[in-house]
Amino acid sequence: MPRVAVIGCGDVATVHFEAIAAIEGAELVAVCDTDPGRLAEASVARGVPGYADVAAMLDEVRPDVVHVCTPHNQHADPAIAALERGINVISEKPLASTLADGERLAAAAAASSARIGVCFQNRYNQAVAAMAQRLASGEFGEILGGSGTVMWSRDAGYYLNRPWRGSWEGGGGGLLMNQAIHTLDLLQWMMGEPTSVSGHAATHALGATIDVEDTAELVLTHANGARSVFYATLANSVNAPITVDIVAEKATLHLRGDLAITHSDGREEVVQERRAESGGRDYWGVSHQLYIADFYSQLGQDGPFWINPDEALKTLRIIKDVYAQSYPDRVAEVS
Ligand SMILES: NC(=O)c1ccc[n+]([C@@H]2O[C@H](COP(=O)([O-])OP(=O)(O)OC[C@H]3O[C@@H](n4cnc5c(N)ncnc54)[C@H](O)[C@@H]3O)[C@@H](O)[C@H]2O)c1
Repeated sequence: MPRVAVIGCGDVATVHFEAIAAIEGAELVAVCDTDPGRLAEASVARGVPGYADVAAMLDEVRPDVVHVCTPHNQHADPAIAALERGINVISEKPLASTLADGERLAAAAAASSARIGVCFQNRYNQAVAAMAQRLASGEFGEILGGSGTVMWSRDAGYYLNRPWRGSWEGGGGGLLMNQAIHTLDLLQWMMGEPTSVSGHAATHALGATIDVEDTAELVLTHANGARSVFYATLANSVNAPITVDIVAEKATLHLRGDLAITHSDGREEVVQERRAESGGRDYWGVSHQLYIADFYSQLGQDGPFWINPDEALKTLRIIKDVYAQSYPDRVAEVS
């Protein structure tokens, strides 16, 4: 019967509240937010006590699990405070806004009896999971190369509503840290952590409103010598479906929501994605609930959850490497 608290009651918290309500036996016991208006709203709407201070909430309520749904620069401290008290954590992505905070959080996780999972929920999409599992099985032979794209649209209002999203201090970066991180994570998960990263981030469309990047291109080299290329922008006119393509010796795999596999002998296969409704936005995908339910189903098991801080650090390192290359005069600020 896990007792649960949510830290950060903004946009994404909606899908976490939904997912908690869907878990048999889970009981929401508190909410926490530093914004008095949002705290009052969430506390009334959910019928649970509200706290402005994370430590006070953890010590008084002693939840079994906390969901960290705060801005990027507010992930590490609440998550570490929970882990130090032996309280399990589900943290939104990215792991942290800086590499140093990400490493601090990974160390706290290693020292804790509790578990932490980082929300890369797209790994639970049906088509994505099939793609990763079948590539890993070796049935397609060696992976020869890959590519990914994220061509989405964000306007000034998205940032004016939540200024942390457009600042290095609050977001630790822009498009790569906030939106493209999911698809970059899928690419590095399927192709392996890169041995070298060459990339560039820039601000082409939203510079009047944000300090962080809205566009990026990357070339990654992986351990077997295969390369992947990646392009992402928020300057597109629509939120196009993300793409991940992998070319292997015996097949080419195209992810566009559904997965299409073209075998080298001419056979075609399609793995359909689930169609699901949630209170979240379409482009968040359909799998927050699956991811959260999986985390809860493994509570109390030994060893780390599979999408743990060490796993999440892999994508954070790629992104911070691109920032260091793109802003050589501001490495300390963007790392
Ligand atoms: N996995 C996904 O697909 C997905 C989708 C959307 C957002 N997110 C992530 O969720 C997180 C939150 O994003 P959002 O759009 O909901 O942000 P938001 O600004 O709408 O909400 C964040 C809330 O946290 C509160 N807060 C800030 N600092 C706090 C602190 N120290 N303690 C307690 N509360 C604090 C704010 O007052 C605000 O209400 C981000 O990390 C974002 O990247 C993930």
